[in-house]
Amino acid sequence: MHQSPLAFIFDLDGVLVDTAEFHFRAWKRLADEEGLPFTREDNEALRGVSRRESLNRLLKGRPIDEATAELWMARKNDYYRSYLPGITPHDLLPGVASFLRTAHDRGIRLGVGSASRNAGVVIESLGVGSLLDALGDGHAVHNTKPAPDLFVWVAGRLDVPVSRCVVFEDAEAGIDAARAAGMHSVGIGPAPRVGHADLRCDGLHAITVDDVLVLFDVV
Ligand code: BG6
Ligand code: MG
Repeated sequence: MHQSPLAFIFDLDGVLVDTAEFHFRAWKRLADEEGLPFTREDNEALRGVSRRESLNRLLKGRPIDEATAELWMARKNDYYRSYLPGITPHDLLPGVASFLRTAHDRGIRLGVGSASRNAGVVIESLGVGSLLDALGDGHAVHNTKPAPDLFVWVAGRLDVPVSRCVVFEDAEAGIDAARAAGMHSVGIGPAPRVGHADLRCDGLHAITVDDVLVLFDVV
């Protein structure tokens, strides 16, 4: 019987490249300038979360008007973007290049589902665009993670049913989104953050494409 195709959908920041650190530094700089308490621990809750929702969480209930919110988000984005020109294919996290290449050679459709509006420029700098069949970024859908919308949107672009998709995520909100979409999930990072994924590991260097296929019985 003819099987539907398979898709792997990767989050970008913290899965393919360590831009999670750049997001942290950019928010931290804004927070320090504005006298907002913000720690690395606080930042864990911002992984995968949209720019707007990140600001809300950073404010911890402190009221600011809409114009100020816009200015602060623009400032954070300027700080973030100032870190990007240095990104090259060498910044792919360990194991990523060979994992993508192997999956691609196996005929698995590959997509990115990132909340970031900067995803396109980062992917271009990493030099992996030609391996990807679809890119869903922060412009693609209105409801961001933990809503399932972005991953469902990417699956549609890849023309693969959600039950045949595996999401790779480093964020609690991202695993929630994958599960809400009815997709399989691989959590990258510590158990308190992504332990609710179907499989947890420390990075793409720590698993093989076959591990994933066998685990999900999708071969
Ligand atoms: C996610 C990051 O990928 O994108 C979040 O994990 C970030 O930290 C979000 O807030 C939105 O990114 P951007 O680049 O549009 O501000
Ligand atoms: Mg991420």
